[in-house]
Amino acid sequence: MPEFHRGRRLRRSRTMRDMVRETELRPQDLMMLYFVVETDDENFEKPISSMPGQHQLSLQKLEQRVAQAVDNGLRSLMLFGIPAQKDEHASGAYDDNGIVQRAIRMIKANWPDLLVCPDVCLCEYTSHGHCGIVQDGDVLNDPTLELLARTAVSYAEAGADMVAPSDMMDGRVLAIRDALDNAGFPNLPIMSYAVKYASAFYGPFREAAESAPQFGDRKTYQMDPANSREALREAAADVFEGADILMVKPALPYLDIVRQVRDSFDAPVAAYQVSGEYSMIKAAAQNGWIDEQAVVLESLTAIKRAGADLILTYFTEDLLKTL
Ligand code: PBG
Ligand code: ZN
Repeated sequence: MPEFHRGRRLRRSRTMRDMVRETELRPQDLMMLYFVVETDDENFEKPISSMPGQHQLSLQKLEQRVAQAVDNGLRSLMLFGIPAQKDEHASGAYDDNGIVQRAIRMIKANWPDLLVCPDVCLCEYTSHGHCGIVQDGDVLNDPTLELLARTAVSYAEAGADMVAPSDMMDGRVLAIRDALDNAGFPNLPIMSYAVKYASAFYGPFREAAESAPQFGDRKTYQMDPANSREALREAAADVFEGADILMVKPALPYLDIVRQVRDSFDAPVAAYQVSGEYSMIKAAAQNGWIDEQAVVLESLTAIKRAGADLILTYFTEDLLKTL
């Protein structure tokens, strides 16, 4: 006599559950993110109030922190720079002696095998806080491409293993690919922030990176959260232009997009659990409302289950200790 489905049979013991588990989080899937500040104060280590546990770090403090993380198994990291001076042309971004360039050299000298991937954008370096050149209140697309390409080449020359453009200007992957190839870096991959939404979840990051736009918002270049077909057009454009890894950002509120990009392209997919996602978990945990470690593991497992191959998360350091 046929019986109803007894799904509980496979959930009876931890061994059984582990045996049939479909998704696994691995240390090599996680990329940590660091904020490095151009300062003479070697001991500079400023807590970011909206991101408990995260700091703005001097080069020396970054070195100490990365050393600790490498001991715990860190494999890869992304860098954001906070320059001493900002100007209209973001000159700190492509200064060969800029803070990110110096951080890359420091890290690669200490840990040649650690994968270093700087974020490529101008917003931390422009006085107005936009991701490109501004004229009459407008963020100009094509003149910005040249500066992004210069920045990427400068990072490559400093020793970066990969570059990750996050600006959302049209054609930037092509411009960066072309510039890298011409500068002798045909083998340096590009992880494109292919599908980046104009999200309110970036709020804490803008405090951390001191990169909030001084006027207006980023809706004329980042995507409308309401759109998913557009996400596939953006991803297709970046694949065509030469992106090696496609990123979707934010992560948890956009799992449908992660899944669609995963199913539509054969390139690896990255998902970025952004600052607001991090801060919400931290805040609730600090109030005793949720179990932080369990919620972090569940969130990241969900992001992988949706199709992400790698995850950028501020929880990486903590997770390396638990995985
Ligand atoms: C810079 C950049 C941002 C983030 C990554 N790169 C901010 C923005 O676009 O305003 C957001 C990361 C986060 O919120 O954790 N373009
Ligand atoms: Zn930017």
